[in-house]
Amino acid sequence: MSELNNKNILLGVTGGIAAYKSAILARRLIDSGATVRVVMTQGAQAFIQPMTFQALTGNPVHTSLLDAEAEAAMGHIELARWADLILIAPASANTLARLAHGLADDLLGTLCLATDAPLYVAPAMNRLMWAHAATVHNCQTLRSRGVNFIEPAVGAQACGETGSGRLPEPEDIRDQLIGMLQGVNAGQAPANGEQSMGKPLNSQHLLITAGPTQEAIDPVRYISNKSSGKMGFAIAEAAVNLGAKVTLIAGPVSLSCSESIKRIDVVTAEQMHNAALKTAKDSDVFISVAAVSDYRLEKIEDKKIKKNDEQMQLTLIRNPDILKSVSEMEDRPFCVGFAAETNNVREHALGKLERKSLDMIAANHVAQANNPVFGSDTNALDVYWAGNEGHTHIASANKSVVAHALLELVAQRLATNVLSSAANNAAATTSSSDPA
Ligand code: PMT
Repeated sequence: MSELNNKNILLGVTGGIAAYKSAILARRLIDSGATVRVVMTQGAQAFIQPMTFQALTGNPVHTSLLDAEAEAAMGHIELARWADLILIAPASANTLARLAHGLADDLLGTLCLATDAPLYVAPAMNRLMWAHAATVHNCQTLRSRGVNFIEPAVGAQACGETGSGRLPEPEDIRDQLIGMLQGVNAGQAPANGEQSMGKPLNSQHLLITAGPTQEAIDPVRYISNKSSGKMGFAIAEAAVNLGAKVTLIAGPVSLSCSESIKRIDVVTAEQMHNAALKTAKDSDVFISVAAVSDYRLEKIEDKKIKKNDEQMQLTLIRNPDILKSVSEMEDRPFCVGFAAETNNVREHALGKLERKSLDMIAANHVAQANNPVFGSDTNALDVYWAGNEGHTHIASANKSVVAHALLELVAQRLATNVLSSAANNAAATTSSSDPA
């Protein structure tokens, strides 16, 4: 293999039990033609000795920013210039947080700031740390700066738990890195220099509903609610940012969106239902953010209703449940619901997750005096998954920050699903090829 011929790779190794795999990774990168120099954090040295990497790479290992001898041989600025790319594997939760904040209080952090070489990270950590809102937010920050992610694998973890957060096998990391480099070399990087590779929703089609619906009573009156569309529009913009193709079905709102979003404007729940069912067939993910009117008038008066009597009765009939219709489709997309609740938020959200057979639900508390959510620029979410495997809190922030954090969770969930269905297929193939 010579795909990495003439590439100078600076391999960052950070603290975690997966650091032992980095030794094999260094070897595999060299096998593919790369010259490798290793930088270890203090945490990494608790798990593996620098001597191991020195022996494998034939180069001295760099461990300290303030080491006069090492600086005299190759100072950190030269090292930053030397690298064609920096690959951090494993990248611990701590390292991702430090990179997101631009800390330069150790050699690896300083190098990442002092280089214009592309940065690749292969996170590895406990599954709850990987799904934590803080890590999700840090990853989102890094991705928005063009950092390329080699997604963690799913499986048994050193801590005894099972889930997403394992460092992929060294050969997989090497192959993914080569794949990303070939993509970039093939001209897939956008002209503004931002890396398009490794975005978490690359090539996914997201269908999003947003805003309220309006149900006419007569030619001048309607039933509706206070949704402004801000949350759904923020998710649509964030999805584009994360590499997705987006269709946005918008109720009557006064918001505009990027040209790259395919926007379908509707007024009533029935119109939203029809548009969603048409598009959902070709979507990978459906996020139902719209506050859909549950009822519509049985009969819409064609003339303005006059006030004659003291009391008046309107007969309402149920609107179709758009989300439920989509989640019941054969070959359905990954379905994410929203729950706007004034009380018993968790209980009501979990009820909807189950009744509507969803993959994920994002609950927002809409009765807080300081933030009614409807119409506001900020929100906070509690996100629950099918299978009742705990939840993630996304702290109160601008809706666009919350939108990115939610989509990171969706992307992590999708990656987990793909990997587990691949594992199931592999298991099925193995057992069907077993002699009876
Ligand atoms: O638009 P903003 O001002 O930014 O406010 C955002 C928001 C509060 C509207 C949003 O964050 C939110 O919570 N949206 C869902 C609101 C809601 O009314 O949920 P629900 O509990 O009625 O419905 C549960 C889920 O089923 C939702 O995903 C909803 O889109 C979906 N649904 C409901 C009824 C129906 N007929 N069809 C549906 O698809």
